[in-house]
Amino acid sequence: MRILLLASAFNSLSQRLHAELRDRRHQVDVQLAGDQDELTAAVDRLRPDLLLAPMLRSAIPREVWSRLTCLIVHPGPPGDRGPSSLDRAIQDGRTEWGVTVLQAEEEMDAGPVWAWAPCRLPGRGKSDLYRNEVSDAAVAAALLAVERVASGTHAPQPQHGPGWQGTVRTRPVLRQAERRIDWTADSTEAVLRRLRAADSQPGVLDDLCGAEWYLHGGHPEPLLRGRPGDLLATRAGAVCRATPDGAVWLPELRRRRTPGGPATFKLPAVTALGALLPPVPERSAPLMPEPGERAGWSDLRYREDGPVGFLHFSFPGGAMSADHCRRLRAAYRFALGRPTSVLVLGGGRDFFSNGIHLNVIEAAEDPAAESWATITAMDDLVAEVLTTTDRLVVAALGGNAAAGGVMLALAADEVWCRRGAVLNPHYRLMGLYGSEYWTYTLPRRVGAAEAERLTRQALPVSTTTAERLGLVDRVLDAGPEGFGPAAARLAGLLAASPGAQRRIAAKKAAREADERVKPLAAYREEELTVMHRQFFAPESPYHALRSAFVRKRPVPAGLRARL
Ligand code: COA
Repeated sequence: MRILLLASAFNSLSQRLHAELRDRRHQVDVQLAGDQDELTAAVDRLRPDLLLAPMLRSAIPREVWSRLTCLIVHPGPPGDRGPSSLDRAIQDGRTEWGVTVLQAEEEMDAGPVWAWAPCRLPGRGKSDLYRNEVSDAAVAAALLAVERVASGTHAPQPQHGPGWQGTVRTRPVLRQAERRIDWTADSTEAVLRRLRAADSQPGVLDDLCGAEWYLHGGHPEPLLRGRPGDLLATRAGAVCRATPDGAVWLPELRRRRTPGGPATFKLPAVTALGALLPPVPERSAPLMPEPGERAGWSDLRYREDGPVGFLHFSFPGGAMSADHCRRLRAAYRFALGRPTSVLVLGGGRDFFSNGIHLNVIEAAEDPAAESWATITAMDDLVAEVLTTTDRLVVAALGGNAAAGGVMLALAADEVWCRRGAVLNPHYRLMGLYGSEYWTYTLPRRVGAAEAERLTRQALPVSTTTAERLGLVDRVLDAGPEGFGPAAARLAGLLAASPGAQRRIAAKKAAREADERVKPLAAYREEELTVMHRQFFAPESPYHALRSAFVRKRPVPAGLRARL
Protein backbone atom coordinates (compact mmCIF):
# COMPACT_ATOMS: atom_id res chain seq x y z
CA MET A 1 0.00 0.00 0.00
CA ARG A 2 1.01 3.60 -0.30
CA ILE A 3 1.02 4.93 3.26
CA LEU A 4 1.41 8.53 4.34
CA LEU A 5 2.89 8.84 7.83
CA LEU A 6 1.72 12.02 9.47
CA ALA A 7 3.60 13.01 12.62
CA SER A 8 4.21 16.08 14.73
CA ALA A 9 7.87 15.04 14.80
CA PHE A 10 9.74 12.31 12.96
CA ASN A 11 10.43 10.73 16.37
CA SER A 12 11.46 7.25 17.50
CA LEU A 13 8.06 5.62 16.97
CA SER A 14 7.50 7.31 13.58
CA GLN A 15 11.01 6.26 12.52
CA ARG A 16 10.42 2.70 13.64
CA LEU A 17 7.10 2.44 11.82
CA HIS A 18 8.66 4.02 8.76
CA ALA A 19 11.39 1.37 8.76
CA GLU A 20 9.06 -1.53 9.60
CA LEU A 21 6.50 -0.61 6.91
CA ARG A 22 9.24 -0.24 4.30
CA ASP A 23 10.62 -3.64 5.34
CA ARG A 24 7.13 -4.99 4.53
CA ARG A 25 7.32 -3.45 1.05
CA HIS A 26 4.83 -0.66 1.64
CA GLN A 27 5.57 2.63 -0.03
CA VAL A 28 5.92 5.15 2.78
CA ASP A 29 5.97 8.95 2.67
CA VAL A 30 6.34 11.23 5.67
CA GLN A 31 4.49 14.48 6.25
CA LEU A 32 5.18 16.62 9.29
CA ALA A 33 2.01 17.94 10.88
CA GLY A 34 1.52 21.66 11.11
CA ASP A 35 0.24 23.39 8.02
CA GLN A 36 -3.17 21.96 7.04
CA ASP A 37 -2.89 23.20 3.45
CA GLU A 38 0.44 21.40 3.12
CA LEU A 39 -1.20 18.20 4.36
CA THR A 40 -4.09 18.48 1.88
CA ALA A 41 -1.61 19.18 -0.92
CA ALA A 42 0.47 16.13 0.09
CA VAL A 43 -2.65 13.93 0.06
CA ASP A 44 -3.60 15.28 -3.40
CA ARG A 45 -0.09 14.77 -4.74
CA LEU A 46 0.71 11.36 -3.25
CA ARG A 47 -2.78 9.83 -3.31
CA PRO A 48 -2.05 7.46 -0.41
CA ASP A 49 -4.23 4.42 0.32
CA LEU A 50 -3.96 5.12 4.02
CA LEU A 51 -2.82 7.84 6.40
CA LEU A 52 -1.18 6.65 9.62
CA ALA A 53 -0.43 9.08 12.43
CA PRO A 54 1.97 7.54 14.97
CA MET A 55 2.41 10.70 17.06
CA LEU A 56 0.16 13.63 16.50
CA ARG A 57 -0.40 16.67 18.69
CA SER A 58 -2.97 18.31 16.41
CA ALA A 59 -6.22 17.17 14.78
CA ILE A 60 -6.48 15.89 11.20
CA PRO A 61 -8.80 18.19 9.20
CA ARG A 62 -12.21 16.82 8.20
CA GLU A 63 -11.33 17.46 4.58
CA VAL A 64 -8.66 14.75 4.86
CA TRP A 65 -10.27 12.13 7.13
CA SER A 66 -13.59 12.29 5.25
CA ARG A 67 -12.01 11.09 2.00
CA LEU A 68 -9.17 8.86 3.19
CA THR A 69 -8.90 6.27 5.98
CA CYS A 70 -6.80 7.98 8.66
CA LEU A 71 -5.51 5.89 11.55
CA ILE A 72 -4.33 7.43 14.81
CA VAL A 73 -1.99 5.62 17.17
CA HIS A 74 -3.18 6.45 20.68
CA PRO A 75 -0.99 5.49 23.67
CA GLY A 76 -3.86 4.22 25.79
CA PRO A 77 -6.13 1.15 25.83
CA PRO A 78 -9.47 1.25 23.99
CA GLY A 79 -11.85 3.74 25.56
CA ASP A 80 -9.17 5.79 27.32
CA ARG A 81 -9.17 9.19 25.67
CA GLY A 82 -7.33 12.45 26.03
CA PRO A 83 -3.96 13.99 25.31
CA SER A 84 -2.18 12.83 28.51
CA SER A 85 -3.18 9.15 28.56
CA LEU A 86 0.31 7.80 29.16
CA ASP A 87 1.35 10.57 31.56
CA ARG A 88 -1.72 9.91 33.68
CA ALA A 89 -1.26 6.14 33.63
CA ILE A 90 2.30 6.56 34.96
CA GLN A 91 1.40 9.19 37.52
CA ASP A 92 -1.45 6.95 38.75
CA GLY A 93 1.01 4.07 39.15
CA ARG A 94 -0.61 1.81 36.52
CA THR A 95 1.48 -1.22 35.60
CA GLU A 96 -0.60 -2.50 32.65
CA TRP A 97 -1.57 -0.31 29.75
CA GLY A 98 -2.18 -0.51 26.01
CA VAL A 99 -2.01 1.19 22.63
CA THR A 100 -5.02 1.62 20.36
CA VAL A 101 -5.14 2.30 16.65
CA LEU A 102 -8.35 4.10 15.85
CA GLN A 103 -9.87 5.89 12.92
CA ALA A 104 -9.83 9.69 12.92
CA GLU A 105 -13.23 11.32 13.25
CA GLU A 106 -14.66 14.62 14.42
CA GLU A 107 -14.27 13.84 18.12
CA MET A 108 -10.68 13.18 19.28
CA ASP A 109 -9.88 9.49 20.08
CA ALA A 110 -13.53 8.52 19.62
CA GLY A 111 -13.38 6.81 16.21
CA PRO A 112 -13.78 3.07 15.54
CA VAL A 113 -10.95 0.82 16.75
CA TRP A 114 -8.93 -1.05 14.09
CA ALA A 115 -6.55 -2.80 16.47
CA TRP A 116 -5.02 -2.55 19.89
CA ALA A 117 -2.24 -4.23 21.88
CA PRO A 118 -1.61 -4.40 25.63
CA CYS A 119 1.71 -3.46 27.22
CA ARG A 120 3.36 -3.40 30.63
CA LEU A 121 4.48 -0.19 32.32
CA PRO A 122 7.47 -0.95 34.55
CA GLY A 123 8.77 1.92 36.73
CA ARG A 124 10.53 3.91 34.03
CA GLY A 125 10.32 7.38 32.57
CA LYS A 126 7.58 8.09 30.04
CA SER A 127 9.91 8.54 27.04
CA ASP A 128 11.76 5.35 27.87
CA LEU A 129 8.42 3.48 28.05
CA TYR A 130 7.29 5.24 24.89
CA ARG A 131 10.37 4.11 22.98
CA ASN A 132 10.14 0.55 24.33
CA GLU A 133 7.01 -1.15 25.76
CA VAL A 134 4.64 1.37 24.19
CA SER A 135 6.53 1.34 20.91
CA ASP A 136 6.41 -2.49 20.74
CA ALA A 137 2.65 -2.43 21.34
CA ALA A 138 2.14 0.46 18.92
CA VAL A 139 4.01 -1.31 16.14
CA ALA A 140 2.13 -4.56 16.73
CA ALA A 141 -1.24 -2.77 16.68
CA ALA A 142 -0.37 -0.50 13.75
CA LEU A 143 0.90 -3.36 11.57
CA LEU A 144 -2.23 -5.37 12.36
CA ALA A 145 -4.41 -2.37 11.53
CA VAL A 146 -2.58 -1.83 8.24
CA GLU A 147 -3.08 -5.50 7.37
CA ARG A 148 -6.77 -5.18 8.21
CA VAL A 149 -7.20 -2.11 6.06
CA ALA A 150 -5.33 -3.82 3.22
CA SER A 151 -7.63 -6.86 3.47
CA GLY A 152 -10.56 -4.64 2.54
CA THR A 153 -12.88 -6.90 4.55
CA HIS A 154 -12.31 -5.89 8.16
CA ALA A 155 -14.93 -3.77 9.91
CA PRO A 156 -13.42 -1.67 12.73
CA GLN A 157 -15.18 -1.70 16.08
CA PRO A 158 -17.14 1.45 16.90
CA GLN A 159 -16.60 2.79 20.43
CA HIS A 160 -20.19 2.58 21.51
CA GLY A 161 -22.76 -0.07 22.24
CA PRO A 162 -23.22 -2.40 25.19
CA GLY A 163 -19.60 -3.72 25.35
CA TRP A 164 -18.26 -0.20 25.79
CA GLN A 165 -20.29 0.89 28.78
CA GLY A 166 -18.00 2.03 31.58
CA THR A 167 -14.93 1.72 29.36
CA VAL A 168 -14.98 5.13 27.73
CA ARG A 169 -13.53 8.06 29.64
CA THR A 170 -11.93 11.25 28.45
CA ARG A 171 -9.32 12.75 30.74
CA PRO A 172 -7.94 16.24 30.36
CA VAL A 173 -4.38 17.28 29.72
CA LEU A 174 -2.13 16.81 32.76
CA ARG A 175 -1.07 20.30 33.75
CA GLN A 176 1.82 21.41 35.93
CA ALA A 177 -0.53 22.08 38.87
CA GLU A 178 -1.31 18.33 39.00
CA ARG A 179 2.32 17.38 38.44
CA ARG A 180 3.69 19.57 41.24
CA ILE A 181 5.85 17.92 43.91
CA ASP A 182 5.49 18.77 47.59
CA TRP A 183 8.97 17.92 48.83
CA THR A 184 7.93 18.13 52.46
CA ALA A 185 4.98 15.73 52.13
CA ASP A 186 5.26 13.49 49.04
CA SER A 187 6.91 10.11 49.55
CA THR A 188 9.89 9.09 47.42
CA GLU A 189 7.58 6.76 45.48
CA ALA A 190 5.09 9.56 44.78
CA VAL A 191 7.91 11.93 43.73
CA LEU A 192 9.32 9.31 41.37
CA ARG A 193 5.90 8.70 39.81
CA ARG A 194 5.52 12.42 39.11
CA LEU A 195 9.01 12.68 37.68
CA ARG A 196 8.55 9.60 35.51
CA ALA A 197 5.17 10.77 34.21
CA ALA A 198 6.80 14.02 33.02
CA ASP A 199 10.04 12.56 31.69
CA SER A 200 11.43 13.63 29.35
CA GLN A 201 8.73 16.15 28.49
CA PRO A 202 7.40 18.45 29.85
CA GLY A 203 9.36 17.91 33.09
CA VAL A 204 8.02 18.85 36.53
CA LEU A 205 8.05 22.58 37.27
CA ASP A 206 9.71 23.24 40.60
CA ASP A 207 11.63 25.78 42.69
CA LEU A 208 15.22 24.99 43.39
CA CYS A 209 18.11 27.15 44.62
CA GLY A 210 16.07 30.31 44.21
CA ALA A 211 15.01 29.77 40.60
CA GLU A 212 12.28 27.95 38.65
CA TRP A 213 13.22 24.75 36.82
CA TYR A 214 11.69 21.82 35.03
CA LEU A 215 12.99 18.61 36.57
CA HIS A 216 13.73 15.83 34.07
CA GLY A 217 14.14 12.23 35.22
CA GLY A 218 14.58 10.77 38.67
CA HIS A 219 16.14 7.79 40.42
CA PRO A 220 15.75 6.61 44.03
CA GLU A 221 18.63 6.99 46.48
CA PRO A 222 18.84 4.18 49.08
CA LEU A 223 21.10 5.72 51.74
CA LEU A 224 21.41 9.51 51.80
CA ARG A 225 18.93 11.30 54.05
CA GLY A 226 18.31 14.93 54.97
CA ARG A 227 15.77 17.65 55.58
CA PRO A 228 12.98 17.21 52.98
CA GLY A 229 13.57 19.46 49.98
CA ASP A 230 17.27 20.04 50.69
CA LEU A 231 19.98 19.20 48.21
CA LEU A 232 22.26 16.56 49.73
CA ALA A 233 24.92 15.65 47.19
CA THR A 234 25.99 15.53 43.56
CA ARG A 235 26.88 12.51 41.46
CA ALA A 236 27.83 12.34 37.79
CA GLY A 237 26.24 15.72 37.09
CA ALA A 238 23.01 14.89 38.98
CA VAL A 239 21.82 16.38 42.28
CA CYS A 240 20.28 14.43 45.15
CA ARG A 241 17.25 15.94 46.90
CA ALA A 242 15.73 14.75 50.15
CA THR A 243 12.12 13.60 50.54
CA PRO A 244 10.40 12.82 53.87
CA ASP A 245 11.25 9.10 53.56
CA GLY A 246 14.38 9.08 51.41
CA ALA A 247 15.91 10.99 48.53
CA VAL A 248 15.96 11.08 44.74
CA TRP A 249 18.61 11.82 42.15
CA LEU A 250 17.65 14.48 39.61
CA PRO A 251 19.84 14.09 36.53
CA GLU A 252 18.73 17.02 34.38
CA LEU A 253 17.14 20.45 34.75
CA ARG A 254 15.75 23.01 32.34
CA ARG A 255 15.42 26.64 33.39
CA ARG A 256 11.90 28.01 33.12
CA ARG A 257 11.69 30.33 30.15
CA THR A 258 11.20 33.97 31.06
CA PRO A 259 8.30 35.65 29.20
CA GLY A 260 9.66 36.78 25.82
CA GLY A 261 13.05 35.23 26.67
CA PRO A 262 14.93 32.66 24.61
CA ALA A 263 13.93 28.98 24.63
CA THR A 264 15.70 26.98 27.31
CA PHE A 265 16.89 23.40 27.12
CA LYS A 266 17.83 20.51 29.40
CA LEU A 267 21.29 20.25 30.91
CA PRO A 268 22.94 18.01 33.49
CA ALA A 269 21.66 19.39 36.81
CA VAL A 270 25.06 20.49 38.13
CA THR A 271 25.83 22.34 34.89
CA ALA A 272 22.39 23.95 34.83
CA LEU A 273 22.61 25.18 38.44
CA GLY A 274 26.15 26.49 38.07
CA ALA A 275 26.89 29.07 40.75
CA LEU A 276 23.42 28.55 42.31
CA LEU A 277 24.43 25.08 43.55
CA PRO A 278 25.02 25.14 47.33
CA PRO A 279 28.17 23.49 48.64
CA VAL A 280 27.22 19.80 48.78
CA PRO A 281 29.60 16.85 48.56
CA GLU A 282 30.14 14.77 45.40
CA ARG A 283 29.10 11.23 46.33
CA SER A 284 30.34 9.04 43.55
CA ALA A 285 28.96 5.51 43.35
CA PRO A 286 31.23 2.47 43.17
CA LEU A 287 31.70 1.28 39.59
CA MET A 288 31.74 -2.34 40.74
CA PRO A 289 29.79 -2.63 43.99
CA GLU A 290 30.63 -5.35 46.49
CA PRO A 291 28.11 -8.20 46.62
CA GLY A 292 25.11 -7.03 48.64
CA GLU A 293 26.27 -3.39 48.67
CA ARG A 294 23.38 -0.91 48.20
CA ALA A 295 25.19 1.33 45.78
CA GLY A 296 22.22 3.30 44.45
CA TRP A 297 21.87 4.99 41.12
CA SER A 298 24.82 5.42 38.78
CA ASP A 299 25.10 6.08 35.05
CA LEU A 300 28.05 3.63 34.91
CA ARG A 301 28.20 0.16 36.42
CA TYR A 302 30.42 -2.88 35.99
CA ARG A 303 29.70 -6.45 37.00
CA GLU A 304 31.03 -9.86 36.18
CA ASP A 305 29.64 -13.29 35.65
CA GLY A 306 32.53 -15.74 35.32
CA PRO A 307 34.49 -14.95 32.15
CA VAL A 308 32.07 -12.20 31.06
CA GLY A 309 32.31 -8.56 32.12
CA PHE A 310 29.35 -6.20 31.70
CA LEU A 311 29.96 -2.48 31.46
CA HIS A 312 26.58 -0.83 31.64
CA PHE A 313 26.11 2.85 30.85
CA SER A 314 23.01 4.98 30.49
CA PHE A 315 23.04 8.70 29.71
CA PRO A 316 19.83 10.76 29.42
CA GLY A 317 18.75 11.04 25.79
CA GLY A 318 21.76 8.89 24.86
CA ALA A 319 23.79 12.11 24.67
CA MET A 320 27.46 12.02 25.64
CA SER A 321 29.37 15.06 26.85
CA ALA A 322 33.18 15.10 27.06
CA ASP A 323 32.78 14.22 30.73
CA HIS A 324 30.56 11.21 29.93
CA CYS A 325 33.07 10.00 27.33
CA ARG A 326 36.01 10.36 29.71
CA ARG A 327 34.25 8.62 32.57
CA LEU A 328 33.07 5.80 30.31
CA ARG A 329 36.59 5.42 28.95
CA ALA A 330 38.03 5.20 32.47
CA ALA A 331 35.39 2.57 33.33
CA TYR A 332 36.24 0.69 30.13
CA ARG A 333 39.92 0.68 31.08
CA PHE A 334 38.96 -0.66 34.51
CA ALA A 335 37.01 -3.44 32.76
CA LEU A 336 40.05 -4.25 30.62
CA GLY A 337 42.04 -4.84 33.81
CA ARG A 338 39.64 -7.60 34.82
CA PRO A 339 40.17 -11.30 34.02
CA THR A 340 37.42 -11.80 31.42
CA SER A 341 37.38 -13.04 27.84
CA VAL A 342 34.16 -11.30 26.76
CA LEU A 343 33.22 -7.72 27.61
CA VAL A 344 29.65 -6.57 27.00
CA LEU A 345 29.25 -2.85 26.50
CA GLY A 346 25.76 -1.45 27.12
CA GLY A 347 23.11 -4.08 27.63
CA GLY A 348 20.65 -1.80 29.41
CA ARG A 349 17.30 -0.66 28.12
CA ASP A 350 16.59 2.35 25.97
CA PHE A 351 19.16 4.48 24.11
CA PHE A 352 22.62 3.02 23.61
CA SER A 353 24.10 6.34 22.51
CA ASN A 354 23.16 9.26 20.29
CA GLY A 355 26.66 10.66 19.96
CA ILE A 356 28.02 13.95 21.22
CA HIS A 357 25.95 15.93 23.72
CA LEU A 358 24.54 18.77 21.65
CA ASN A 359 22.88 20.52 24.62
CA VAL A 360 26.05 20.69 26.69
CA ILE A 361 27.88 21.98 23.63
CA GLU A 362 25.20 24.58 22.97
CA ALA A 363 25.42 25.83 26.58
CA ALA A 364 29.22 26.09 26.55
CA GLU A 365 30.92 29.46 26.42
CA ASP A 366 32.71 28.39 23.24
CA PRO A 367 30.56 25.75 21.49
CA ALA A 368 33.15 25.09 18.77
CA ALA A 369 35.85 24.35 21.36
CA GLU A 370 33.39 22.23 23.38
CA SER A 371 32.45 20.29 20.22
CA TRP A 372 36.12 19.64 19.62
CA ALA A 373 36.73 18.54 23.23
CA THR A 374 33.72 16.21 23.04
CA ILE A 375 34.56 14.56 19.73
CA THR A 376 38.17 14.10 20.85
CA ALA A 377 37.01 12.43 24.08
CA MET A 378 34.56 10.29 22.07
CA ASP A 379 37.31 9.24 19.66
CA ASP A 380 39.59 8.34 22.58
CA LEU A 381 36.83 6.08 23.91
CA VAL A 382 36.17 4.46 20.52
CA ALA A 383 39.93 3.95 19.99
CA GLU A 384 40.06 2.09 23.29
CA VAL A 385 37.38 -0.34 22.03
CA LEU A 386 38.97 -0.72 18.60
CA THR A 387 42.37 -1.56 20.05
CA THR A 388 41.11 -4.13 22.56
CA THR A 389 42.76 -7.28 21.30
CA ASP A 390 42.87 -9.49 24.38
CA ARG A 391 39.13 -10.25 24.60
CA LEU A 392 35.96 -10.12 22.56
CA VAL A 393 33.86 -6.98 22.90
CA VAL A 394 30.11 -7.05 22.30
CA ALA A 395 28.04 -3.88 21.95
CA ALA A 396 24.56 -4.75 23.26
CA LEU A 397 21.94 -2.24 22.10
CA GLY A 398 18.75 -2.52 24.10
CA GLY A 399 17.44 0.58 22.34
CA ASN A 400 18.12 3.10 19.64
CA ALA A 401 21.44 4.56 18.59
CA ALA A 402 22.36 7.38 16.26
CA ALA A 403 25.32 9.12 14.66
CA GLY A 404 28.49 8.64 16.72
CA GLY A 405 26.53 6.34 19.04
CA VAL A 406 26.11 3.80 16.22
CA MET A 407 29.78 4.13 15.34
CA LEU A 408 30.74 3.53 18.98
CA ALA A 409 28.84 0.23 18.75
CA LEU A 410 30.55 -0.67 15.46
CA ALA A 411 33.94 -0.49 17.18
CA ALA A 412 33.01 -3.70 19.02
CA ASP A 413 33.58 -7.16 17.55
CA GLU A 414 29.90 -7.97 17.61
CA VAL A 415 26.83 -5.77 17.66
CA TRP A 416 23.66 -7.20 19.17
CA CYS A 417 20.38 -5.33 19.07
CA ARG A 418 16.97 -5.71 20.56
CA ARG A 419 14.43 -6.24 17.77
CA GLY A 420 12.66 -2.98 17.11
CA ALA A 421 15.62 -0.71 17.91
CA VAL A 422 16.15 2.03 15.34
CA LEU A 423 19.61 2.90 14.08
CA ASN A 424 20.57 6.17 12.43
CA PRO A 425 24.09 5.56 11.14
CA HIS A 426 24.67 9.05 9.78
CA TYR A 427 25.62 12.61 10.75
CA ARG A 428 24.48 14.63 7.76
CA LEU A 429 21.33 16.02 9.38
CA MET A 430 23.52 17.76 11.95
CA GLY A 431 25.71 19.19 9.17
CA LEU A 432 28.64 17.02 10.23
CA TYR A 433 30.99 14.62 8.48
CA GLY A 434 31.40 12.62 11.68
CA SER A 435 34.31 10.89 13.34
CA GLU A 436 34.48 7.96 15.80
CA TYR A 437 36.58 6.13 13.16
CA TRP A 438 33.45 5.51 11.12
CA THR A 439 35.42 5.65 7.86
CA TYR A 440 37.21 2.52 9.12
CA THR A 441 34.35 0.61 10.77
CA LEU A 442 31.30 1.28 8.61
CA PRO A 443 32.69 0.25 5.18
CA ARG A 444 34.39 -2.73 6.83
CA ARG A 445 30.95 -3.95 7.89
CA VAL A 446 28.66 -3.01 5.02
CA GLY A 447 30.99 -2.23 2.09
CA ALA A 448 31.98 1.15 0.71
CA ALA A 449 28.90 1.64 -1.50
CA GLU A 450 26.42 0.87 1.29
CA ALA A 451 28.36 3.03 3.74
CA GLU A 452 28.10 5.90 1.29
CA ARG A 453 24.37 5.30 0.80
CA LEU A 454 23.60 5.06 4.53
CA THR A 455 25.46 8.26 5.37
CA ARG A 456 24.05 10.18 2.40
CA GLN A 457 20.41 9.08 2.60
CA ALA A 458 20.39 9.66 6.36
CA LEU A 459 17.35 7.43 6.94
CA PRO A 460 16.50 5.35 10.00
CA VAL A 461 17.35 1.66 9.68
CA SER A 462 15.34 -1.13 11.30
CA THR A 463 17.09 -4.03 13.01
CA THR A 464 15.91 -6.38 10.24
CA THR A 465 17.58 -4.25 7.60
CA ALA A 466 20.62 -3.63 9.80
CA GLU A 467 21.12 -7.38 10.14
CA ARG A 468 20.72 -7.91 6.41
CA LEU A 469 23.30 -5.22 5.68
CA GLY A 470 25.78 -6.61 8.21
CA LEU A 471 25.53 -3.49 10.34
CA VAL A 472 24.54 -5.67 13.29
CA ASP A 473 25.34 -9.33 13.94
CA ARG A 474 22.42 -10.48 16.01
CA VAL A 475 18.89 -9.31 16.62
CA LEU A 476 17.41 -10.53 19.89
CA ASP A 477 13.69 -11.14 20.14
CA ALA A 478 13.37 -9.88 23.69
CA GLY A 479 11.23 -7.37 25.48
CA PRO A 480 12.82 -4.19 26.87
CA GLU A 481 13.27 -5.77 30.33
CA GLY A 482 14.36 -9.12 28.92
CA PHE A 483 17.06 -7.83 26.59
CA GLY A 484 19.82 -7.47 29.23
CA PRO A 485 19.37 -11.01 30.62
CA ALA A 486 19.09 -12.45 27.07
CA ALA A 487 22.31 -10.69 26.01
CA ALA A 488 24.02 -11.90 29.21
CA ARG A 489 23.07 -15.51 28.46
CA LEU A 490 24.41 -15.24 24.93
CA ALA A 491 27.62 -13.61 26.13
CA GLY A 492 28.10 -16.53 28.53
CA LEU A 493 27.72 -18.95 25.62
CA LEU A 494 30.15 -16.92 23.54
CA ALA A 495 32.78 -16.97 26.29
CA ALA A 496 32.32 -20.72 26.77
CA SER A 497 32.41 -21.54 23.06
CA PRO A 498 35.38 -23.65 21.98
CA GLY A 499 36.37 -21.10 19.31
CA ALA A 500 36.50 -18.06 21.63
CA GLN A 501 40.27 -18.03 22.20
CA ARG A 502 40.90 -18.65 18.49
CA ARG A 503 38.67 -15.71 17.64
CA ILE A 504 40.57 -13.46 20.04
CA ALA A 505 43.87 -14.44 18.42
CA ALA A 506 42.41 -13.93 14.92
CA LYS A 507 41.04 -10.52 15.87
CA LYS A 508 44.46 -9.41 17.13
CA ALA A 509 46.09 -10.54 13.89
CA ALA A 510 43.41 -8.79 11.80
CA ARG A 511 43.83 -5.55 13.74
CA GLU A 512 47.61 -5.64 13.24
CA ALA A 513 47.19 -6.32 9.53
CA ASP A 514 44.69 -3.45 9.19
CA GLU A 515 47.05 -1.16 11.07
CA ARG A 516 49.82 -1.91 8.59
CA VAL A 517 47.55 -1.07 5.65
CA LYS A 518 46.34 2.19 7.22
CA PRO A 519 46.85 3.18 10.84
CA LEU A 520 43.81 4.05 12.92
CA ALA A 521 45.44 7.42 13.60
CA ALA A 522 45.20 8.22 9.89
CA TYR A 523 41.44 7.57 9.82
CA ARG A 524 41.03 9.77 12.86
CA GLU A 525 43.12 12.56 11.46
CA GLU A 526 41.26 12.61 8.15
CA GLU A 527 37.87 12.66 9.88
CA LEU A 528 38.90 15.29 12.39
CA THR A 529 40.33 17.54 9.70
CA VAL A 530 36.84 17.83 8.20
CA MET A 531 35.17 18.06 11.62
CA HIS A 532 37.55 20.84 12.70
CA ARG A 533 36.46 22.90 9.71
CA GLN A 534 32.80 22.19 10.43
CA PHE A 535 33.17 23.17 14.08
CA PHE A 536 35.27 26.29 13.61
CA ALA A 537 34.27 27.75 10.22
CA PRO A 538 31.72 30.53 10.77
CA GLU A 539 29.72 29.59 7.65
CA SER A 540 29.28 25.97 8.82
CA PRO A 541 25.58 25.02 9.09
CA TYR A 542 26.33 22.82 12.14
CA HIS A 543 25.90 25.63 14.68
CA ALA A 544 22.50 26.71 13.40
CA LEU A 545 21.36 23.08 13.07
CA ARG A 546 22.49 22.31 16.61
CA SER A 547 20.80 25.40 17.95
CA ALA A 548 17.52 24.39 16.25
CA PHE A 549 17.82 20.80 17.51
CA VAL A 550 18.36 21.62 21.16
CA ARG A 551 15.59 24.22 21.16
CA LYS A 552 13.26 21.89 19.23
CA ARG A 553 12.79 24.42 16.46
CA PRO A 554 12.26 23.30 12.87
CA VAL A 555 15.33 23.47 10.65
CA PRO A 556 15.17 26.70 8.62
CA ALA A 557 14.26 25.89 5.00
CA GLY A 558 17.41 27.57 3.64
CA LEU A 559 19.58 25.36 5.79
CA ARG A 560 17.68 22.21 4.91
CA ALA A 561 18.45 22.84 1.27
CA ARG A 562 22.18 22.99 2.03
CA LEU A 563 22.33 19.58 3.74
N1 COA B 1 22.57 15.56 22.21
C1 COA B 1 21.68 16.06 23.10
N2 COA B 1 20.44 15.58 23.24
C2 COA B 1 20.09 14.55 22.43
C3 COA B 1 20.96 14.00 21.48
C4 COA B 1 22.26 14.54 21.39
N3 COA B 1 23.17 14.03 20.57
N4 COA B 1 20.32 13.01 20.85
C5 COA B 1 19.10 12.93 21.38
N5 COA B 1 18.95 13.86 22.33
C6 COA B 1 17.79 14.13 23.17
C7 COA B 1 16.69 14.78 22.38
O1 COA B 1 16.80 16.19 22.37
C8 COA B 1 15.47 14.34 23.14
O2 COA B 1 15.27 15.16 24.25
P1 COA B 1 13.81 15.26 24.88
O3 COA B 1 13.53 13.92 25.44
O4 COA B 1 13.95 16.31 25.89
O5 COA B 1 12.86 15.61 23.80
C9 COA B 1 15.87 12.96 23.67
O6 COA B 1 17.28 12.90 23.60
C10 COA B 1 15.31 11.86 22.83
O7 COA B 1 15.58 12.16 21.49
P2 COA B 1 14.45 12.26 20.40
O8 COA B 1 14.97 13.07 19.30
O9 COA B 1 13.14 12.62 21.00
O10 COA B 1 14.40 10.74 20.10
P3 COA B 1 14.05 10.11 18.79
O11 COA B 1 14.16 8.66 19.04
O12 COA B 1 12.78 10.64 18.32
O13 COA B 1 15.19 10.57 17.76
C11 COA B 1 17.50 10.80 17.03
C12 COA B 1 16.46 10.08 17.91
C13 COA B 1 18.82 10.17 17.42
C14 COA B 1 17.23 10.58 15.56
C15 COA B 1 17.53 12.30 17.31
O14 COA B 1 17.51 12.50 18.70
C16 COA B 1 18.80 12.96 16.77
O15 COA B 1 18.86 13.26 15.60
N6 COA B 1 19.81 13.18 17.65
C17 COA B 1 21.04 13.85 17.30
C18 COA B 1 22.06 12.86 16.79
C19 COA B 1 23.30 13.63 16.43
O16 COA B 1 23.31 14.35 15.46
N7 COA B 1 24.34 13.51 17.26
C20 COA B 1 25.48 14.34 17.13
C21 COA B 1 26.48 13.91 16.13
S1 COA B 1 27.52 12.63 16.79
